[in-house]
Amino acid sequence: MSISSFLTKKFLKSLFFPAHNRGGALPKKLVKLLKNPPGYWDLPELPEIGSPLSKSGLIANSQRDFSEKFGAKRCFFGVNGASGLIQSAVIAMANPGETILMPRNVHISVIKICAMQNIKPIFFDLEFSHETGHYKPITKIWLDNVFKKLDFDNNKIVGVILVSPSYHGYAGDLEPLIDICHQKKLPVLVDEAHGSYFFFCKNLNLPKPALSSNADLVVNSLHKSLNGLTQTAILWYKGNLINEINLIKSINLLQTTSPSSLLLSSCEESLKDWQNKKSLSKYQKRILEAKKIYKKLIQKNIPLIETQDPLKIVLNTSKAGIDGFTADNFFYRNGLIAELPEMMTLTFCLGFANQKDFLNLFEKLWDKLLLNSKKSKSLEVLQSPFELVQAPEIEIGIAWRSETRSIPFSQSLNKISGDIICPYPPGIPLIVPGEKIDIDRFNWINNQSLCNKNLVNFNIRVL
Ligand SMILES: Cc1ncc(COP(=O)(O)O)c(C=O)c1O
Repeated sequence: MSISSFLTKKFLKSLFFPAHNRGGALPKKLVKLLKNPPGYWDLPELPEIGSPLSKSGLIANSQRDFSEKFGAKRCFFGVNGASGLIQSAVIAMANPGETILMPRNVHISVIKICAMQNIKPIFFDLEFSHETGHYKPITKIWLDNVFKKLDFDNNKIVGVILVSPSYHGYAGDLEPLIDICHQKKLPVLVDEAHGSYFFFCKNLNLPKPALSSNADLVVNSLHKSLNGLTQTAILWYKGNLINEINLIKSINLLQTTSPSSLLLSSCEESLKDWQNKKSLSKYQKRILEAKKIYKKLIQKNIPLIETQDPLKIVLNTSKAGIDGFTADNFFYRNGLIAELPEMMTLTFCLGFANQKDFLNLFEKLWDKLLLNSKKSKSLEVLQSPFELVQAPEIEIGIAWRSETRSIPFSQSLNKISGDIICPYPPGIPLIVPGEKIDIDRFNWINNQSLCNKNLVNFNIRVL
């Protein structure tokens, strides 16, 4: 079968990204555009359109309008996912050899750019839940303790990255965290890939958006948490701690010379759609419906985990003695496609289309799964093996460029990794180049791979 034939395959219910749910919630203007003769709209960077870095043209005007409306100094559309803009933000923040403080649940795009640019990550651990296997949101006390452990004299720490909300939708209060960093004059990049729509729903008791919480740089994924096409993203810039010229140079360095006009239009329309009163009230209704779905499932004793993002339905399959991968496989075979299987949980993303039919289908399938599956597994997720503050034993850029050999992970104890081992989704590395596979980490990665077929008998490149 060709890719193009597969793209029109029908699933009973698709609860994965992109959040427009297979076109169900695309902005009307984009739908209209796509109804034109196929490919007609695929234009190059004509002067009237420009590019995200042009001083004039439709894109520049649009970005200027959004910056003004949302209280940013500048914003930039991106067509290489949140990944591309996060990487530009990282190199705007740090020069080669400098250090960035970042949490353990940072996205793989950050690790890749650190390896490429010889930027040194210092990781801080996060509070961990044995019940779910997930990291919890960071509190001010937690970050205070991290800062107390940092050796500012021997590391040139030039910035901090925070991830909020997480893939599952956990989010805490960002402002006090950003305050701590700003007291040290450290700029903060917030990876808000999963929280773009928080901007538009201040009345719905959702987490406060990163830009309103004084972040210096914020990256939103417009296909994960607004109704943009895959690869669309936006970077917001604010404050005085990041040099604007550096930022522009950094975007320029990683940007394609041929950004897709369709994707750029999708960046614009997904944001504009939420500024349109009628569409906004429709989407807000969807969010309230999502809250109701959660409540109803809880009333039926279905083990859901509460997060701060109503659009994520996180099923704690482990409560029924079933791992998330087995559950995912079962739902997939029955036409209900989830987003993120993990050992203890399975996460569904409701997105912005109407999901009223999800409730009955989900209930029916969950009951069937409970009846049909073996529930003998004693599922236990190991505590992450990290110190509160920890840097790789060898600089990430050096380890990445070193000569490595590929060996079975089972033989890697006490070796130094030259690899990034990272299940996707969620794209959070288990180990990065330069880190030692000590016994705790070895056991932890083995534990992580118990149910995940992608991590069974895998090879790792070691120094
Ligand atoms: C927290 C987080 N940040 C960034 C990204 C990258 O987003 P994109 O796929 O748009 O490049 C992801 C993708 O999974 C993510 O989960």
